[in-house]
Amino acid sequence: MATHIITQNPTIPTASEEALEDDRLCSGISSSSLLEQEQSQSSSSSSDPSDSLSSLGSPNGYLNGQCRIERAWTHWKKLGEPKLIVAPMVDNSELPFRMLCRKYGAEAAYTPMLHSRLFSENEKYRTQEFTTCKEDRPLFVQFCANNPDTLLEAARLVGPHCDYVDINLGCPQRIAKRGYYGAFLMDNLPLVKSLVEKLAQNLPVPVSCKIRLFPNLKDTITYARMLEEAGCALLAVHGRTRDQKDGTKFRADWIAIKAVKDALMIPVLANGNIRHMDDVRSCLEETGVDGVLSAESLLENPALFAGFRTAEWIEGKEESNRDGGLDQGDLLVEYLKLCEEYPVPWRIIRAHVHGMLGDWFRIHPEVREDLNKQRMLTFEFLYDMVNRLRELGTRIPLYVSTPKNTDAEIFSG
Ligand SMILES: Cc1cc2nc3c(=O)[nH]c(=O)nc-3n(C[C@H](O)[C@H](O)[C@H](O)COP(=O)(O)O)c2cc1C
Repeated sequence: MATHIITQNPTIPTASEEALEDDRLCSGISSSSLLEQEQSQSSSSSSDPSDSLSSLGSPNGYLNGQCRIERAWTHWKKLGEPKLIVAPMVDNSELPFRMLCRKYGAEAAYTPMLHSRLFSENEKYRTQEFTTCKEDRPLFVQFCANNPDTLLEAARLVGPHCDYVDINLGCPQRIAKRGYYGAFLMDNLPLVKSLVEKLAQNLPVPVSCKIRLFPNLKDTITYARMLEEAGCALLAVHGRTRDQKDGTKFRADWIAIKAVKDALMIPVLANGNIRHMDDVRSCLEETGVDGVLSAESLLENPALFAGFRTAEWIEGKEESNRDGGLDQGDLLVEYLKLCEEYPVPWRIIRAHVHGMLGDWFRIHPEVREDLNKQRMLTFEFLYDMVNRLRELGTRIPLYVSTPKNTDAEIFSG
């Protein structure tokens, strides 16, 4: 049974705070603050000299060039070279969802993006937005930032609980423009460099970055090389530019990702257009990257990395696929059980219900309407809703490919 390393400190609103209903945690649990946990952990850990990059002794004993690249690879190998990775998703790649994806083949996962200033200043934000447990590894904790000292302060708090501290350099949304972070830092590369250097030179945990492409490949390569030089130990490349916000409209550019992989010496991950295991195979082959990230497709099908695919991806290949004996209703029930174990705000659960049961609701929109009317969710309501859909005769299976199936090869490395 998993134990919490960091638990949450729920603040339950009164009925008059109904508008914030979805921010309620889905259940109360005994709590201890992240800082308390972090302090007790750091006093009892790090005696193992092979532990992460703490083997450098003092974090300031940071080394340059080839040595740093070797350390990046040593760390990556120590983590088992994970290839199948849950991408960072605000309000969606939280602990119970990560644990569900891990059960179904994910070999590593990112937290949702955390705001470094809020994280370092605000205990309530910390305890609500970052939870983990000892089985939740390898783990990338992602921050947005535009101030190196603030980023370091936030990163130090999560360092003992993760395998990489990741910098979000890819968020293209308006909120990132207003807050001056994510992909908008592509206009200020000296600042990006200072963020990476600050962590690489002062933190015992390696720093990773997640970027988007520049419109021009040469600029992308220069950018990626600068990050590697600054001490980035692992780079995830989302193969779209800052202006290509809609993933359904713009295919990720795997050719550009391959060019980045070829230009760098550290491990590189690809992101974009990973919808099923055939995509994983093609992407690894075509780009030569060390692993892939998937985001939107996992929201619909958290069992993607175990070789399951939705009906959309078997069209025209029906004879080489069969009902996998698992469906999104089953996955939602498993997810809800994980939420009972690892509480999260109801708004997050609500988002996952829509993500996993979208196709089911298209057949029975009245069930979706009842869900939308429900201002105060309960587990009982949600379990009953899945039963009701089943009683209405809805079952949309997830499929697996028949014996020629080579998904197992990817799992075994
Ligand atoms: C709901 C949602 C939330 C996201 N939040 C983040 C985030 O917190 N940090 C980040 O770097 N990218 C975030 N992304 C972008 C994804 O990590 C990923 O780069 C993008 O969706 C492309 O991958 P895909 O084609 O597999 O969906 C988010 C995407 C979605 C769909």
